[in-house]
Amino acid sequence: MIALKDVSYSYEGCAALKKINLHIGKGESVALMGVNGSGKSTLLKLLNGIIFPDGGEYRFDGETITQKKMQDAAFSKRFHQRIGFVFQNSDTQLFCSDVYDEIAFGPRQMGMKETDVESRVQDCLALLNIEDFRHRQPYHLSGGEKKKVAIACVLALNPEVLIFDEPLNGLDPRTQRWFVSFLIKLHEAGKTLISSTHDLEMVQEIADRAILFGEDHTIAADKPAQELLEDIDLLKKVNLIDEYYHRHPGSTHQHFHIHPF
Ligand SMILES: Nc1ncnc2c1ncn2[C@@H]1O[C@H](COP(=O)(O)OP(=O)(O)O)[C@@H](O)[C@H]1O
Ligand SMILES: [Mg+2]
Repeated sequence: MIALKDVSYSYEGCAALKKINLHIGKGESVALMGVNGSGKSTLLKLLNGIIFPDGGEYRFDGETITQKKMQDAAFSKRFHQRIGFVFQNSDTQLFCSDVYDEIAFGPRQMGMKETDVESRVQDCLALLNIEDFRHRQPYHLSGGEKKKVAIACVLALNPEVLIFDEPLNGLDPRTQRWFVSFLIKLHEAGKTLISSTHDLEMVQEIADRAILFGEDHTIAADKPAQELLEDIDLLKKVNLIDEYYHRHPGSTHQHFHIHPF
């Protein structure tokens, strides 16, 4: 479904992605790991057609994604209906003065009838358990509430692929728990999930597969999530865990001490 071939990307001469080769199939749940600045957000923006490779090629469902194609309104609409992006910072995603209109925005853009829009918005509000603030101002909500609204906006288009950039950031522990189980449900429902995270426990719970970026902006490993989490030497090498890491022998719980950022 997603195929990157030798994809590179630089910001004004500063490399963020180097020769990335990657295939992600329908229904996979993939975690993107790597220290700050390794290129995770850049890759996610590229998958979502916000930026385009300087070199190499990005194909979505067999079609090469280029700036020119994304400038075509019909193509871009179709693409964004199939692949949804939840930004790291909800404030960059929310712009309406009312939660209902915010969630209705995408379906309306797609030309859906207003009665269908209404039931779609209602379903999303219920799914995220945010019916109570359907007429609140997104701007005034808490970080966790904003994140839920941002997710509802993306789900309102019922995309096949959902991309989350650091979804646990800034959420309180209870909302983090809720979010992890929500992702598991989406995965069980057959959605393709791609999430970037520093949270090794989240990787363990939600991902089948983990892709690890090195500090050199290349892929250091791409393998089953559990296997990668057990590769302590590699995680140390890419600076994701430090020597404080320890494991209690005989315990089923692993305690990770993540390098502070
Ligand atoms: N808008 C930008 N302008 C210039 N450099 C950027 C920009 N965004 C990211 N970078 C740089 O690109 C590299 C990769 O960043 P990013 O993809 O945000 O990493 P991550 O999400 O893994 O923390 C970093 O060196 C970062 O400083
Ligand atoms: Mg990032």
